[in-house]
Amino acid sequence: MSLFAEVLGDWRVPVEQDPAARGYVDVLLSYPGFHAITAHRILHRLWRARIPLLPRFLANVVRTLTGIEIHPAAQIGQRFFIDHGMGVLIGETAQIGDDVTLYKNVTLGGTSLGAGKRHPTLGNNVVVGTNASVLGAIVVGNGARIGAGSVVVRDVPPNATVVGIPGRIVLVDGQPARVRTALVDMPDPEGMVVQQLAERITALEAKLTELGAPTQARRAPAINPAIFDDVSPAI
Ligand SMILES: CC(C)(COP(=O)(O)OP(=O)(O)OC[C@H]1O[C@@H](n2cnc3c(N)ncnc32)[C@H](O)[C@@H]1OP(=O)(O)O)[C@@H](O)C(=O)NCCC(=O)NCCS
Repeated sequence: MSLFAEVLGDWRVPVEQDPAARGYVDVLLSYPGFHAITAHRILHRLWRARIPLLPRFLANVVRTLTGIEIHPAAQIGQRFFIDHGMGVLIGETAQIGDDVTLYKNVTLGGTSLGAGKRHPTLGNNVVVGTNASVLGAIVVGNGARIGAGSVVVRDVPPNATVVGIPGRIVLVDGQPARVRTALVDMPDPEGMVVQQLAERITALEAKLTELGAPTQARRAPAINPAIFDDVSPAI
């Protein structure tokens, strides 16, 4: 995709999605997130062309001006939006899908000093709330949302909402992740034991019948009600 098309895509997002935006000129003049991603689109090309020093130096200049640090090697998809900017960090081996939004102070950081992949991979349509940290070479699935202030150190499934420290999944596809089991659906261990005993008695009776034993005779004799006739009532 051409640089122009990429920048236009990034430019459109705040205009169309941010209620605070007052049009293209407003975004051009007042959105540090737009300035940072526009600069990154150019610097990433310089990085890929293996131009030494300059991309990192210029990325640092952009950081000084916008408060947003994006390593020139970071791979960022189309229509990327950093709302409010300031304090955002995107590490060298981070990979970001299309239509991703980050709020201020988001860190896509590493947890190891190894030279390989050490920053997160974000799928498409991911939203990362303000002050959230997504750390390590983890994968955040398409459509996932990271709550403000969360610290996420494990993979996040698609369409999940993660909040807290450490991040825990509270919603999946908009539904509570831990559905409480209705009482009627809960297992009944005592009932299961009684059921098993009843089945064993039936099986034993069948076996006795098979052997020709008079099963009724082996049971306790039936009580004759007449025996109570002579008993005096208790005083
Ligand atoms: C995570 C988020 C996307 C969830 O939004 P939602 O789908 O409307 O979900 P809910 O508000 O119903 O929250 C679901 C549960 O998570 C909790 N929760 C939501 N956001 C949370 C957060 N940031 N930290 C801790 N818990 C959070 C809610 O209290 C709720 O818990 P409960 O079910 O026990 O009551 C949203 O809360 C959020 O943090 N968005 C980031 C916005 C942002 O950073 N704006 C900055 C603008 S500068």
